[in-house]
Amino acid sequence: MTPEAIAAWAKHAVDSPLYVRLSGVIADDTELVRVLDGVANLPQLNILLAAVHMILARGTDDPLASYYASLTDDPRPIDDDLAGHFRRFVLDHEAEVATIGATRYTQTNEARRCVALLPAVWMSGLDRFHLVEIGASAGLNLALDRYRYRWGDVEWGTSPLLLEAGSRGADPQPRPVAVGRRIGLDVNPLDPRDPDDRAWLEALLWPEDPDRRSRLRAALDITAGLDIEMVAGDASITLPEVLDTLPAGEPVVVMDSFTLNQLTPEQRSALEEAVADARRDRDVFRISLGQRWRDDGSSLDIDDGTGWRQVAEAHHHGRWVDFYVLP
Ligand SMILES: C[S@@+](CC[C@H](N)C(=O)[O-])C[C@H]1O[C@@H](n2cnc3c(N)ncnc32)[C@H](O)[C@@H]1O
Repeated sequence: MTPEAIAAWAKHAVDSPLYVRLSGVIADDTELVRVLDGVANLPQLNILLAAVHMILARGTDDPLASYYASLTDDPRPIDDDLAGHFRRFVLDHEAEVATIGATRYTQTNEARRCVALLPAVWMSGLDRFHLVEIGASAGLNLALDRYRYRWGDVEWGTSPLLLEAGSRGADPQPRPVAVGRRIGLDVNPLDPRDPDDRAWLEALLWPEDPDRRSRLRAALDITAGLDIEMVAGDASITLPEVLDTLPAGEPVVVMDSFTLNQLTPEQRSALEEAVADARRDRDVFRISLGQRWRDDGSSLDIDDGTGWRQVAEAHHHGRWVDFYVLP
């Protein structure tokens, strides 16, 4: 990566003063840039920093850990020693960073996106349905009926995990939800019961974000207790196969959240075709979140078979959601 590309990345990491500083440390150091360029998977900086975070989180008395708010209650302020500690730690763990960089992906899974997804499910008018997610990561969105919610004055559900969103538009319209099979499709499914997968998802979070960390842990615990079927592989191939396994005539909600941007146009067309085919025999309600980005918001779109329409704009991590008043 060039210093310019690293600086451009740092602009998106403003919520993490530690990562902004560390990206500057990397850009100024040819040895660290060499390690960064050796990270096989993309985006390289996210993966390098998460790899370091994961290795530190395994437990160490290395001084570098003392700068991470996720690893200590009283983090050391960023100072002139940070660069040296980081450089030494990365070079000492270069082989492990390369292994993580070739085997792990940025699969951040944010349960609070369900503040947009569940109301979209309600818009389907379906009370009983199977639920399929394209790009499910660890499957947190497939547990959307197992969380508690608050959008302004509207509350729904009982759960140890409360997901709260600033609601700026129309109120969500709750209705009963009975989910049959829950099926996640992912090229690399993560297991909410697997300690290493959990550690990786935590390592992907910015160190300075305790709310996201506790939300992730709670959502992983809830998801781990559900019967979720994870299907490994390219969803453009597995979706038609999976839809064929569902009992004839029964409705299905197929959703994707911050995933379509990772697919090729051919893969996206194959998904559309699979849905069109399945609609010959059953109701298929489509939900897509994260399609069109504008500042920190992105669109929530639905298609009941009559064509796609945007029904809300939502913060990319579910901090707020703005439902349009629908006719
Ligand atoms: C950014 S994550 C989003 C995870 C989750 N949907 C959410 O909203 O928190 C995108 C996920 O899509 C998966 N993915 C990318 N390409 C895929 C493909 N062709 N088929 C299935 N999953 C894919 C990735 O492995 C990753 O887990």
